[in-house]
Amino acid sequence: MRIVDVCAFYTPHGGGVKTYVEQKMRIGPELGHDITILAPGDRHAVIERGPHARIITIPGPRFLLDRKYWYFGDEEALHAKLDELAPDFVECSSPWRSASMVARWAGPAPRALVMHADPLSAYAYRWFEPVMSRETIDRRLEPFWRHLRELSGGFERVVCASAELRDRLAAGGLMNTVLHPMGIEADLFSPARRSAALRRRLLALCGLPENARLLIGVGRLSPEKRWPMVVDAVAAEIGAGRTGIRLSPVSPANDSAESNPQAVFGPLVEALNQRGIAFIHFVEGSTGGPRDLTGFDFAWARQTFKGAYIANNGYTRDMAIDAIASGRADAVAFGRAYISNPDLVQRLKANAPLAKAHSSTFYVPGPEGYIDYPAM
Ligand SMILES: Cc1cc2nc3c(=O)[nH]c(=O)nc-3n(C[C@H](O)[C@H](O)[C@H](O)COP(=O)(O)O)c2cc1C
Repeated sequence: MRIVDVCAFYTPHGGGVKTYVEQKMRIGPELGHDITILAPGDRHAVIERGPHARIITIPGPRFLLDRKYWYFGDEEALHAKLDELAPDFVECSSPWRSASMVARWAGPAPRALVMHADPLSAYAYRWFEPVMSRETIDRRLEPFWRHLRELSGGFERVVCASAELRDRLAAGGLMNTVLHPMGIEADLFSPARRSAALRRRLLALCGLPENARLLIGVGRLSPEKRWPMVVDAVAAEIGAGRTGIRLSPVSPANDSAESNPQAVFGPLVEALNQRGIAFIHFVEGSTGGPRDLTGFDFAWARQTFKGAYIANNGYTRDMAIDAIASGRADAVAFGRAYISNPDLVQRLKANAPLAKAHSSTFYVPGPEGYIDYPAM
């Protein structure tokens, strides 16, 4: 079957939608289907991803709220592309304007509107439920509900990711709703299923007592979106001025290499700056290895982030003095030198020689290599 996914929120920079379409282009052909992801972009392009999978972009305006994205602005061009592709089935993965465009397409293919997200819970209910009832919010959002009802008439199926969403949309008057569980099921992940024993076990794994606070980050979002949320949660608890984060934009340690570190970590640094957190601690280069890796501009990060910049990785005393004197960093962190010099601060002050750490005792259990390096 020739399937076209009209994918309004795809960006090559990453994120949950990218992960989703990558999986679809892998699994679809395995199941005997031909997959085309039709996305807005800065130009017309066909990016082949194997014999039966490709991304086709058609030019559209940039999305002003997030300039890594574009949107479908030309309905005629979208319809012409659908005519040309002659799909057997069309999917729409966003309930906004592109879905209306697809609903209006005159072609014969059946189509499904896939509700990957729940726009009401994600935004409207979350923002307004603290101050008004859900019924009031729904009443005020009547134009959006009308839009959803009209849309549902243009699609053979409105695929809902959870039973709760399906029931809510069906009750709101949408036609053709079907349940196809995806992502996090609100019925499964609910406070009613809280387990005190599991909570205790997780805290014990962190060596913490039962009365400690437990924050679990679960998500399929790209790092630049996930971390500001975690930072917000921590800052709400202890204050932004007491919150810091360590970033290793270019380090390949533990398979963490990014193909485009600036695209992933640049927006994150900007987002962290807006939050006014105390510091970002940067591992410059490959952790414990070469410093001269490219892909991320640490000088730009220093300029952009207004909180304290802590530099790390392979610093000698002279390098650290120079980094502070030249204003490239507010502080320098030492890793290995701290392991092998229990009196590191005194040695640095006195410009005394530093003992070299033995990598053979790194990461090993037991006290050896941790408490047996002598002081001066
Ligand atoms: C034994 C050992 C354990 C480390 N554990 C961590 C860790 O848990 N988290 C982390 O971000 N970095 C960890 N690092 C990396 C150091 O924090 C630091 O980034 C690295 O050693 C480079 O700094 P240096 O050149 O001053 O040693 C570890 C390094 C060593 C040698």
